[in-house]
Amino acid sequence: MCGIVGHIGHKNSVHVVLEGLKRLEYRGYDSSGVCFKNEFGNLTLFKKTGKLHNLKNLLRGVNLSSNSCVGHTRWATHGVVNDQNSHPHLNDTISIVHNGIIENAAEVKKDLISEGLQFKSDTDSEVFLGLVHYSVRQGMSLFDAVSRSFEKVQGNSAFVIQEKSSNQILAIKRGAPLVCGLNFKTNEVMVSSDPYALVGMVDQIFFPEDEVVCCLTGEKDKPITFYEKNGELSERYVSKKQECGLEPQEKGEFEHYMLKEIHEQPGLIRFLEEYYFLGAGKEVLKNVENEKPSRIQLNACGTAYYAGLVIRNFIESINRIPVSAELASEFRYRDPIFQESDLGLFISQSGETADTLAALNLCVERKVKTYSLVNVEGSTLSRLCDQNLFIKAGVEIGVASTKAFTQQVLTGRIMAESLKGTPSYGELRTKFSLLAHRLEVLLSQVDKIKKIAEEIYNYKGFFFTGRGQYFPIALEGALKLKEIAYVHAEGYAAGELKHGPIALIDEEMVNVAIIGPELLEKAVSNVEEIKARRGVIVILGPKDRKDLEALSDHYIPLNFDGLEELSPIYVNVANQLLSYYMAKFKGTDIDKPRNLAKSVTVE
Ligand code: F6R
Repeated sequence: MCGIVGHIGHKNSVHVVLEGLKRLEYRGYDSSGVCFKNEFGNLTLFKKTGKLHNLKNLLRGVNLSSNSCVGHTRWATHGVVNDQNSHPHLNDTISIVHNGIIENAAEVKKDLISEGLQFKSDTDSEVFLGLVHYSVRQGMSLFDAVSRSFEKVQGNSAFVIQEKSSNQILAIKRGAPLVCGLNFKTNEVMVSSDPYALVGMVDQIFFPEDEVVCCLTGEKDKPITFYEKNGELSERYVSKKQECGLEPQEKGEFEHYMLKEIHEQPGLIRFLEEYYFLGAGKEVLKNVENEKPSRIQLNACGTAYYAGLVIRNFIESINRIPVSAELASEFRYRDPIFQESDLGLFISQSGETADTLAALNLCVERKVKTYSLVNVEGSTLSRLCDQNLFIKAGVEIGVASTKAFTQQVLTGRIMAESLKGTPSYGELRTKFSLLAHRLEVLLSQVDKIKKIAEEIYNYKGFFFTGRGQYFPIALEGALKLKEIAYVHAEGYAAGELKHGPIALIDEEMVNVAIIGPELLEKAVSNVEEIKARRGVIVILGPKDRKDLEALSDHYIPLNFDGLEELSPIYVNVANQLLSYYMAKFKGTDIDKPRNLAKSVTVE
């Protein structure tokens, strides 16, 4: 969702903030802006809808020398996409940027208007500016004004506040990501919604807990300090060395990050294997081997949820532990029944998805032990779970998740092996190696998939179907196509079509049938039913099957030999390629599809 970057330094603040915003572009946004202290000590504001280069054009010829700047990339929630609704929001002396939603904004705004305040935008965010401004006008310090105002707003949010008169930036959050950083040599300080903005700029990073007020000054003796809202010093933050590097974020020879990330998968599978079976991950597995949960409550959103469905199948068949897999956005508002020795399992690439975190909080409140399968180390999820199994996917830039899905499923498979108590990792390693090899072969022969994509990308609608362990892959295939190619696609359990959706089938509809070794004959019968109604058939199925070739209009043969258990991942990569090339033929913005954000930090 919205990206935040703030900096206090030595004349270079605007440049640092613009670089930070550029790094956050991958998260998805519709407008951007910066507010900085200019050479006369005034706060000066520039904001613009569209891509970051629109903002940069606006800044052309402006003296950008400044010691203090806050910047923002907006993903609209309240108020349409226009310049006025973009952030930062500024009155003469205070500017703010915001990520999240103020749930009681309408009510607070009404009160402020009755006190004579005026608003320039339709956003909920400006309401917070109004509250702070009002309190400062009443004589409060900025610190007290921010603390009091924060108590008045409901919902999950992070705010960064800059004031003209004091050389400080304040930040506070509830249920939204926020990270601060310090450069020991220069005393430069930064704040952001994403640690990636801080890479290479700071030596130490700090993750404040909810309701802690972060006070950034960049002053030698006290560059950054954390307080409770009552003004007492706070120790409620985690501090660690900034370690991650920037190199993997280049696209290299690939036209899109998504394509690059699809191609990274064989290497990442080998890396995961090494990490867990030979490297530091071994220690974590020892802990998992001692777990004896009677049931697993698995929660996630989107692609991570579909990965969870594959993992559920693994755990239920290998460990015979019942797994209740749920969309975190639903689970959080139910009144789920917890049992003693339940284990909460949370799957996420970003580790910042608001609904997944809310589901986690529910488990924490009920004193359920929690595990994560997460990519971003240091993310909120990883800090709150009792045990993390990192999926080691590296930074995923493409908004559509690809490599994270593969690594989530495989880490879940490793977890299932460890839960046995007496695992046979050797066999699993062989399977991982075979999968990596098969994916390499698939990725070296993409021309066939590309050609099929070219022939089908203009059809009216798509049904991705699968049975058993391929059903989650059908769901994921449809999601991928929808989000990057902007066509209607549905993932369906193949056996369910005749209970309704088959009414939609005609010669304008495509059925992408995912057929693996499991339940093959049954899946073929379901395809026959669609074929009989003149649907266009694409089969992703076992190689050397003349019958499947004859049944389909387009056939993508796959070599499943020896790969049965991990075959969902293998077919999924074929699906990723199909969606990618269809989107490419449609000419969409593949890495940053419209309306989407990489990290969904609001409900
Ligand atoms: C789809 C996609 C989303 C995410 C979902 C959860 O390609 O990326 O559906 O999977 O928003 O995000 P994380 O995994 O960060 O919790």
